[in-house]
Amino acid sequence: MLKNDLVLRAARGETTERIPVWLMRQAGRVLPEYRATRAKAKGFIEFVKSPDLACEVSIQPIDILGVDAAIIFSDILVIPEAMGLPYQMIESKGPWFEKTIQTKNDIDELIIADENDLHYVMKAISLTKKQLDNRVPLIGFAGAPWTIFAYMIEGSGSKTFSKAKQFLYTQPEFSHLLLEKITLSTINYLKGQIKSGADLIQLFDSWAGVLAPEQFYEFSLKYISKICDAVQPLVPITVFAKDAHYAINKISKLNCNVIGLDWTIHPATAREQANEKTLQGNADPCLLYADKKTIKTETEKMLRAFGNKNYIANLGHGLYPDIEKEKVKFFVECVKEFKS
Ligand code: CP3
Repeated sequence: MLKNDLVLRAARGETTERIPVWLMRQAGRVLPEYRATRAKAKGFIEFVKSPDLACEVSIQPIDILGVDAAIIFSDILVIPEAMGLPYQMIESKGPWFEKTIQTKNDIDELIIADENDLHYVMKAISLTKKQLDNRVPLIGFAGAPWTIFAYMIEGSGSKTFSKAKQFLYTQPEFSHLLLEKITLSTINYLKGQIKSGADLIQLFDSWAGVLAPEQFYEFSLKYISKICDAVQPLVPITVFAKDAHYAINKISKLNCNVIGLDWTIHPATAREQANEKTLQGNADPCLLYADKKTIKTETEKMLRAFGNKNYIANLGHGLYPDIEKEKVKFFVECVKEFKS
């Protein structure tokens, strides 16, 4: 039995005695403690593949920031790697793939990954679950198929993801073939995470916003929907499709429990479209550069607008590395002390 199950209860649509809070990228570089643990590994990928270290940084935000859930430290790019497309994480630049997907043959060569191909994540989850000692729930995650596809075609981050979008426009059939393979791998992966102890799943469609609505429905939402169908009977699932507000109503009709929101939508607008689904978000991460008075005022405004039913407080995207740890802690405290 979890000692603090606020996030899970809010995800299931129950009213909670106070608003729960966690932060995207809480297991990351805002914490000096994270940087110290990271220094023990040779590089980012070795770090991700060390269950002991991954466990350590997954638990740090619970002790240091006081958040109501842990998220397993890993990366969405472990899926391309498990399917046969390795990546590097280049310091202060981001991910880089030596080989990218260009042809049908490239797609045929990829395997459909299963949990054994990602045994190190399973190990990290079971270890973290044990070390958490039921203090808070553990969130597992994966990238949504479109976002993974975008990295596999583009080979790195991009402002426009125009190569990936070019592939959608010029090779729609092969695009579906690849998205299907990523989806099957992701379902196997998430089922493994749940078996290993994940209490809740979040899907990150970080690059949903580069697609036009019709493309989003055809090449992203369709596959997100398949993942929700597979996961929801097991544990609650959150869909975070960044910058795709027009789709909130459609997302609310999926077999998902929580809709993640970025900061560019007003809480009331999201509520109108979300069919009573639990909402998560949506403070601008840059708010945490402001002074404490501003942080408190703006955070309370957000909490009042969402209310304490069907709501999990979070940022509208991940923490930036140069945000001060004290400000992050303050944001968490503001939520925990808020009385509606
Ligand atoms: O705390 C957590 O949220 C859990 C861990 C987590 C990481 N990546 C660790 C990480 C999670 C949930 C992710 C998801 C992820 N990874 C996404 C989706 C969420 C989002 O931010 O939109 C994406 C697009 C990636 C791909 C990725 N990983 C990029 C583009 C980068 C480099 C740029 C950056 O944000 O730092 C990473 C590296 C990465 N993943 C770091 C961390 C803590 C920083 C690397 C480091 O320690 O040097």
